[in-house]
Amino acid sequence: MVGSRVQLTKAGREYKACCPFHTEKTASFWVSPEKQFYHCFGCGAHGTALRFLMDYDHMAFPEAVEELAGRLGMPVPHEGGGGPKPQDASLYELMTRVAEFYASTLLRSERATRYLTQRGLTAEIMQRFGIGYAPDAWNTVLRRFGSGEHDRQALTETGLVIERERGQIRDGDRHYDRFRDRIMFPIRDSRGRVIAFGGRVIDRGEPKYLNSPETALFHKGRELYGLYETRLARSSLKRLLVVEGYMDVVRLHQAGIAYAVATLGTATTPEHLKRIFRLVREVVFAFDGDRAGRGAAWRALQHALPEAREGREIRFLFLPEGHDPDTLVGAEGREAFEKRIDSALPLSEYLVRELSTQCDIIHADGRAHFAESARPLVNKVPEGVYRELLIGRVAEVVGLAPERLRALWEGGLPTRPTAQPPLRPRTAHSAGRGSLVRQAVVRLVQFPATAGSVTDTERSGLDGSTEPGADLLRALLDDLRGRPLKTAGQVLERWAARPGGEHLGRLLDREEVLEDEGAAAVELRAALVKLADLVLERRVDALIAKQAATGLNSDEIQEFQRLMNRKAMR
Ligand code: GTP
Ligand code: MN
Repeated sequence: MVGSRVQLTKAGREYKACCPFHTEKTASFWVSPEKQFYHCFGCGAHGTALRFLMDYDHMAFPEAVEELAGRLGMPVPHEGGGGPKPQDASLYELMTRVAEFYASTLLRSERATRYLTQRGLTAEIMQRFGIGYAPDAWNTVLRRFGSGEHDRQALTETGLVIERERGQIRDGDRHYDRFRDRIMFPIRDSRGRVIAFGGRVIDRGEPKYLNSPETALFHKGRELYGLYETRLARSSLKRLLVVEGYMDVVRLHQAGIAYAVATLGTATTPEHLKRIFRLVREVVFAFDGDRAGRGAAWRALQHALPEAREGREIRFLFLPEGHDPDTLVGAEGREAFEKRIDSALPLSEYLVRELSTQCDIIHADGRAHFAESARPLVNKVPEGVYRELLIGRVAEVVGLAPERLRALWEGGLPTRPTAQPPLRPRTAHSAGRGSLVRQAVVRLVQFPATAGSVTDTERSGLDGSTEPGADLLRALLDDLRGRPLKTAGQVLERWAARPGGEHLGRLLDREEVLEDEGAAAVELRAALVKLADLVLERRVDALIAKQAATGLNSDEIQEFQRLMNRKAMR
C-alpha cells in the first residue's frame, strides 16, 4: 500500500525510498511488508499501514480504517449506518466511467478546450482534476451507459439522467441527460471516487453552474470540492483555504496553492468544519470583497463559532473588490496571494471589527450595544479557554474587566468594581512551567474557588489519565467541587493528613503566585483540557498499536470511531 504512494526499491526483505515526510536526496525510508510497518531513519517518522494513511494521505481515522478494510475486502461496521451500502459500489464505478468519458470528449471538443485554455488552465491541471466536457446532445450518456433498464435506473439514481413524469412524454424516451454542453468538474470523495459533477456553461448562459442533485453518493453539505486533490498534492497539509468556486480551487492549485477547497454552492456547514478540523488545525476562508462576500463571511463566522477552540486557527481573508481567488492569483501570483493568506484576520478580530463597524464604540451606549451584540456570538463558542480569551477581547473593547462583562451578560450586577486588565493569552500557554498536573494542582490550592468553574465534562476528561499525580489532582478537584473552600490555608489544613497532602504546601512555595483568580481559573481549565486530550491521544495510539499487532474487534473499532468523533468535536 505504501508502494502505491511512494517509489520503493527492493532491499532484501524490505524496501527503501526517499521519505515522503521530509525532503531528502538519499533513501532513508524503510518499509517492511512483512511487519506492515514503515520507518524513516532520517526524520523518525514511523508507523503502521494505518498511520501511514493518516499521516501521508491526511485521512481521518475512520476513513483510514475504511480504506484499509476496503483493501482487505472486509466491511466496517458503521454507527448509525450512514455510510455507503454495497449496492452503491456499482454506482461509484458508473460515475467514474462517465467522468472518463467526459474527460475524453473534452479533448475532442475544440470549443471546450479553447474556453478552458483562455481561462488560463493548463492541460496538466485539467487532467489532475479530471475536467471534462458533456457533449451538446440530449442523450449521449443515456445511450452510452444506459442500454438496459437496470443501467438506466443507475443513471437516474446518480442524477446523470433525468426521468420525465409520465404525463410529459412527447417523443418516445422519458429519459434525458442532465448535463449537456457543459464543462464538467467531477466531485470526488476523500477516497477519490467520483460522486457528483458540477457543470459550467461555456461562456454565457443560465444557470451558470448545474450540480448533481443529492444522491446516495452525494451530500453537498458534507463534501468539499478539491479535498481529494489537496490530499494527493500532499504538500504537508497544515492548513486549508476554503473558497467559493470550482474555478477558484483549480486555478489556486495550478498556481501552487494546493490546499484550496470549495463548498459546493452552499454556505460552510458545521459538518464541513468538523471534517476540516479532522485534517488540519488551521483554516482560512476567502471571500470576495463585495457585499455578497461579506454576507457569506458573516454566515461562515456564525457556523465556525461552535467549532472554535484553543489550538485551532480560524481566519478570514477578504479579497479586493472585483476579484475572486481565480482572477487574483492569476493577476498577482502565488507569493503575493499567500502573503494575503498569511495576514488574514483571526476570527476574534474579524468578529470585533465587524461589530465595531455596526456600533459606535466611542460612546458608552455604543459599547453597551457592542457587548449585547457580541453575547449571542460568544455563547456559540464551547466553554473553554478559547471562549475565555474571546470574552477577554470583547471586554477589552468595551473597557470592562472580563468578569464584569460576564456578570453583565448573565443579567447580574457587576459584583466588585475592578480595573483588572483583560485576560492575556499567556495564561493559556504556560505549560512550560512544570507538568500540566502540577499546574492544575497549584492553581487549585492557590485559588480553591476555581474548582467551581470546572465543568463536568472537563472533570470527566481526567478519568483514565495516568500522568504522574493525576490521582491527587482528581481527588483534590472532586473534594473542592463537592465541598468548596476559599483560601489556600484552608486547603492545606484539610489536606494535611491526607495522601499527597504533604506535597501541596511544598508545591505552593515553589510556584509563581498568580494575582488574579480569573487568570488562575483559565489556566486551570486549560491544563484540564490538555490533560483530557492526552488521555484521548494515548487511547487512540494504544488502539492503533493493537490494530497493527492483532487487529481490532468490532467493539474496539466502534470505540475508535467514538474517540475520533470526540477528537473532531474538540
Ligand atoms: P466562474 O464564473 O467560472 O469563475 O465561476 P466561479 O467558480 O468563480 O463561481 P462563482 O463565484 O460565480 O460562484 C461560486 C460557486 O457558486 C460556483 O463554483 C458554484 O458552486 C456556485 N454557483 C455559481 N453560480 C451557480 C448557479 O447558477 N447555480 C448553482 N447551482 N450554483 C452556482
Ligand atoms: Mn470566478
